[in-house]
Amino acid sequence: MCEHISGCVQPRIPRLGLDLDKKIDALTEGFFAVPIQKNGKRLVGVIGLGSVGRALSSVMGYFHNVIGYDILGEHDWNPILSCEAVFICVQTPEGSDGRLDCSHVHAVLERLKKDRYEGAVVIKSTLRVGFMNTATIKYPDLKLVYSPEFMSEKNAFLWTANPDRIVISGQEELMDHVQKLYYWVENAKIIRTDFKSAEIGKLAHNALIALKVTFTNTMEQISKSYGASADDVMKIVYTDRRVANSAHFLPYKGPYGGKCVPKDTSELINAFAEMTQLLRVADDINNSLTLSKEAMNQELESE
Ligand SMILES: NC(=O)c1ccc[n+]([C@@H]2O[C@H](COP(=O)([O-])OP(=O)(O)OC[C@H]3O[C@@H](n4cnc5c(N)ncnc54)[C@H](O)[C@@H]3O)[C@@H](O)[C@H]2O)c1
Repeated sequence: MCEHISGCVQPRIPRLGLDLDKKIDALTEGFFAVPIQKNGKRLVGVIGLGSVGRALSSVMGYFHNVIGYDILGEHDWNPILSCEAVFICVQTPEGSDGRLDCSHVHAVLERLKKDRYEGAVVIKSTLRVGFMNTATIKYPDLKLVYSPEFMSEKNAFLWTANPDRIVISGQEELMDHVQKLYYWVENAKIIRTDFKSAEIGKLAHNALIALKVTFTNTMEQISKSYGASADDVMKIVYTDRRVANSAHFLPYKGPYGGKCVPKDTSELINAFAEMTQLLRVADDINNSLTLSKEAMNQELESE
């Protein structure tokens, strides 16, 4: 039984022994109004059942027969090999060199290679720059597709059910195949591209969040030192229709953090050292804010 974690709605996949919240049914009614059996159910696998893998398997469970596999827990690997496609959702943490450590993805690809897996291999995990180039050389017989994930961990199920866009990269006919598996997402939201653009696009999205948050924190400091209202200053900025969305423009939220924004930004900085001065400055400012926040917390605790 899957424990309820914040942001991960308990999915309703009988195979995984899970149950879905009724409230979510009401919220997601619109998304699932399409005939579920439209193309006939397909057999797909999800490898790595953490935040991304659990959300993906719960949403895909409405449309396909989903087999989940994780090295933690008692999952059977062999059924994975009969799936027409597998979605790899294993972790890619920041390594000691500041680059993404993709060893877990390699471990899965090695295993699929060893077992001569013939279906589509869709990588959802965030990859280090150049990974797909290496992978196509190292695993020439695997049908590789990179389809990075953009969900927000706080509402994993809803983001996966209703993503802003799905990015798919790889060979044309493979992209056609994988696109069909995502058929709850409207066609207009599918972005088909090459491996390099998918790699950079995925990282660039989080790097922009890093810059937005850092900008807001800088304005907050300036406002405080000048006696201005940081809330009003940022309202003046984000009410502009060109700026559009206020999500990362709210002051008093602290430095950026979480699982992905810091490590994806660090990946771009370290992959393109000469070209990322702006991001490096944002990263330095963010680190100093993190340190001063920690120092402040310590001070408060010791009082
Ligand atoms: N969490 C998010 O909000 C989010 C959003 C977008 C992208 N991503 C990216 O998606 C990927 C997955 O993130 P996550 O947060 O779900 O990670 P996670 O750490 O929550 O889960 C990863 C799971 O993979 C399993 N695993 C590791 N090696 C395995 C193997 N060889 N075979 C089978 N299972 C294996 C682990 O046991 C774990 O349960 C990462 O690359 C992350 O950067 C995450």
